[in-house]
Amino acid sequence: MTILVTGGAGFIGSNFVLDWLAQSEEAVINLDLLTYAGNLDNLTKLKNDPRHVFVQGDIGDKELVTRLFAEHRPRAVVNFAAESHVDRSIHGPEDFIRTNLLGTFTLLEAARGFAATTASESSEFRFLHVSTDEVYGSLAPEAPAFSETNRYEPNSPYSASKAGSDHLVRAYFHTYGLPVLTTNCSNNYGPFQFPEKLIPLVIHNALNGKPLPIYGDGRQVRDWLYVTDHCTAIRRVLEQGRLGEVYNIGGWNERPNIEIVQTICSILDALRPRNDGQSYADLITFVKDRPGHDRRYAIDASKIERDLGWRPSETFETGIRKTIEWYLENQSWVTKVVDGSYRTWVEKQYA
Ligand code: NAD
Ligand code: DAU
Repeated sequence: MTILVTGGAGFIGSNFVLDWLAQSEEAVINLDLLTYAGNLDNLTKLKNDPRHVFVQGDIGDKELVTRLFAEHRPRAVVNFAAESHVDRSIHGPEDFIRTNLLGTFTLLEAARGFAATTASESSEFRFLHVSTDEVYGSLAPEAPAFSETNRYEPNSPYSASKAGSDHLVRAYFHTYGLPVLTTNCSNNYGPFQFPEKLIPLVIHNALNGKPLPIYGDGRQVRDWLYVTDHCTAIRRVLEQGRLGEVYNIGGWNERPNIEIVQTICSILDALRPRNDGQSYADLITFVKDRPGHDRRYAIDASKIERDLGWRPSETFETGIRKTIEWYLENQSWVTKVVDGSYRTWVEKQYA
């Protein structure tokens, strides 16, 4: 048996592929375009593992995805592939529409064609679409956390593109009976996260004595989940989720950004004290706010807990410590990302 994972060289996708192959004999076809966010160094452990088949390509390439379905006949698709960074979507939304919306559409069409030709097998087939809590918009301070029935109110080009893809997935279930599942998760953190996102950026800047930029007043709230807990939840939804349903995933871990940054600083103060004896917190710098910055996200994870019995294993305290330790122990991974040499493999392909 085989599953098709898209975006499996990115942050969450690579953690998912590593976790999947650590627990299962089932092969993974990993389709990833290797944009700036895709990094084959994340998958070094699988270099000689025949269960991992890497294909560099675009989910929006109809011919390629149709061929992959026909060749590998996956029993499931897990769609991680996306442009994922909100700030980049503000400066250049086009790639977000192309991949997140049109790419997902192309993948859905190919899945529909495949499911139609495999009538008996298709009762087993699943298309799991990985999405975000950002589609629900911004919560007022005292409002209850997002449940699966909240209205979609996306505010950034990124969240609008993800919202559009979620709607397409829903439509393919209702119109064509494609066996889909959708997950909407809160902010992830952990190993292999690209150092443009808040937590790895702050760790990297702190270790290099650079300013730690906090947008606006730093009182925006995000709800943090350790990445392998997200992977476990996706696996659970894939195995036990009800077709056509949406599952919100989160760890009940709301924190203001400033608190996250202060926590990172105090852990680093203990693990890697600065030479001058000052706290890393002295590097905190308030900068211009992100346009349209959502004030608060929070996930109500009751449904997945109640219906599928999923619970996160990490608390924020254990997860953030593990994450900081990982970045300290894997400075060469970070260095290659920052100096661009992690792209060498990709550039050679096109030389
Ligand atoms: P990421 O940016 O780290 O990785 C995205 C991966 O997709 C990269 O490997 C990239 O090369 C690949 N990709 C981009 N465009 C592609 C295309 N057209 N075809 C094939 N591959 C392509 O993203 P991430 O943080 O790992 O997020 C993965 C998914 O999870 C996304 O769909 C995102 O919306 C969702 N999500 C992320 C978070 C989070 O906190 N990071 C939270 C909830 C949901
Ligand atoms: O909520 C899930 C989403 O979480 C995912 O769908 C996105 O793919 C993922 O990128 C993430 O989006 P955010 O915009 O919340 O993550 P980011 O790490 O960019 O920012 C987290 C918070 O920190 C946000 O309120 C903006 C703020 N921030 C971010 C950066 C990069 C800063 O204050 N300073 C910074 O330098």
